[in-house]
Amino acid sequence: MPPQAQVTVRSPAKINLGLSVGPPRPDGYHPLATVYQAVALYDDVTATVRDDLEVTVEVVGDFAVDVPTDDSNLAVRAARLLQAEFDVEEGVDLTIRKTIPVAGGMAGGSTDAAATLVACNRLWGLQLSPAELERIATDLGSDVPFCLVGHTALGRGRGEQVTEVMSRGTFHWVFAIADGGLSTPAVFKELDRQRPLRRVEAPEVRPELLSALLSGQPATLAVALSNDLQSAALSLRPELASTLQFGLDQGALAAMISGSGPTCLFLAADSRRAVDLAVELAESGLCRMVRQAEGPVPGARILPAPISR
Ligand code: C5P
Repeated sequence: MPPQAQVTVRSPAKINLGLSVGPPRPDGYHPLATVYQAVALYDDVTATVRDDLEVTVEVVGDFAVDVPTDDSNLAVRAARLLQAEFDVEEGVDLTIRKTIPVAGGMAGGSTDAAATLVACNRLWGLQLSPAELERIATDLGSDVPFCLVGHTALGRGRGEQVTEVMSRGTFHWVFAIADGGLSTPAVFKELDRQRPLRRVEAPEVRPELLSALLSGQPATLAVALSNDLQSAALSLRPELASTLQFGLDQGALAAMISGSGPTCLFLAADSRRAVDLAVELAESGLCRMVRQAEGPVPGARILPAPISR
């Protein structure tokens, strides 16, 4: 593919259908066995080429004020990493249109980094293969490789080693987005504080989760979901327990903290029930906003260029 002067990439949020966490490694990370699913809640990253070496970022949309625009922004780090590794002699202006909650346990920052890798690969004509992009993604964060591939996948190591998992049909999710975020390191730390570490087993994916995904039945999936980080997230934000219970009382098949939280996720039996649940949650006053999305969906993808005359 030839380079383009402007590219927009759409990249999904992730949820963890199972998240099993082992004891911390010497490098501080926790070994994981997780099943990721990409859901149809997206950030769009537009990259415009610059003829100097600058990398700039502007953030617009629902959560714009919560996102840093300095060098700590993961999308900026992604662009700079590609620039440095491949001696790129151009820069980029990035515009992130955010729909995914920030620090919400849905990989919002990671997916912006994944989108930026895909966008800059095209913008700068680097022609890196998906495998090369995945290798670079690993240096940016544990969830970034999954955001590139999307669909449903098993995550091993610290979450960065992804392999696709078979999943049938479409599942209907509702998300209750809380006020404020939760720091992922703080949630892992709280988990370590709660558990007698010598007794923590190696992380494992529950076989019933994999068979539930193959069945395509939401009721079967509902009883196979699990998240080791849930109790830690709830001890840092106890009020989230009421949100989870409210969703169950309104007919959700399952209610769980998303990743490290504080977003609460609910599995609905079908799309109509997902709408009903979303309306009830929105009216409950228990959360900042409510979103609905189906999964699985693909990872970061270039959008077709707008047609111009
Ligand atoms: O990989 P990433 O930078 O997204 O991780 C953010 C933080 O979450 C890490 O610095 C670490 O504190 C925690 N983490 C962990 N074990 C993992 C993934 C993340 O302890 N497998």
